[in-house]
Amino acid sequence: MPDLKPTLFMVEPTHYEVSYVINPWMQPGAWHEDPARHLREAAAASATLKQALTEAGADVLSIPGAPGLPDMVFPANAAVVLNRRAIVARFACAERRGEEAHFLKAFQDFKARGLIDEVTQYPEGVFQEGAGDAIWDDTRQHFWAGYGQRTVKASLKITENFFDVPLVPLELVSPRFYHLDTCFLVLSGGEVLYYPPAFSDEGHQTIAAVAGRENVLEARDEDAAGFCVNAVNFGREIIMARPPQRLKAELEERGYRVHAVDLDPFILSGGGAYCMTLRLNRQSAAMALEEA
Ligand code: ARG
Repeated sequence: MPDLKPTLFMVEPTHYEVSYVINPWMQPGAWHEDPARHLREAAAASATLKQALTEAGADVLSIPGAPGLPDMVFPANAAVVLNRRAIVARFACAERRGEEAHFLKAFQDFKARGLIDEVTQYPEGVFQEGAGDAIWDDTRQHFWAGYGQRTVKASLKITENFFDVPLVPLELVSPRFYHLDTCFLVLSGGEVLYYPPAFSDEGHQTIAAVAGRENVLEARDEDAAGFCVNAVNFGREIIMARPPQRLKAELEERGYRVHAVDLDPFILSGGGAYCMTLRLNRQSAAMALEEA
């Protein structure tokens, strides 16, 4: 079944900065050496990403950021979305909680425009950081769900019940890989690229058993540190922070087109291409059939 043209949600980096530390990648010191230059570079990087996504065939829908909420530029954390239904996130870190109201409003607007049918939110205190910790696997028709760093285990049942699809939980064991999307990438051909040190032994076994060993590609330190695992994929297109040549070649050999974008200003906050986008029109196979 042909995939829908992807509609991706982004937030403009007008109010972006690195001003606090809620993950080990964040460097407010480096940012504040020259905030004006970093902001200029961030604006350019975000525009380049938007252009790469558009050229690869996606529609991008952007909203402005908000003052005092620098990490709003990472809308992967805004909500989990599938089949025109959305659950808006509850942020584990106080620094990001102010984003919830903005994202709730954005989704209500999407609903008013007919892009989304139903919007709800995780219950207060049940932390869940959106698609960053709930990655849809189109080949296998289930979510892979990260928990243990930001997202709490108690949220998983809520996600599963709301969308009425299976969910495979994966515990995250390293503070450097605090969202599943930093260390786990599902590709349209069924491959899974993942960074083993971010997962427990049980996680490794689950990934191999569910994806099949032949589909599992291991990311190296340099891939994870470059936020290349944090990539956007639709069809044969992969948009990612500049990859090592080896990784790019490996993906191209499998038939993907790799679009490399310089996302250094956002890596300074611990985010890459996937974090900076949220797919609004992802559909399960059952829903696609129903609509066909
Ligand atoms: N500074 C942000 C945070 O720590 C980065 C979020 C990146 N988003 C992601 N989906 N991995 O929350």
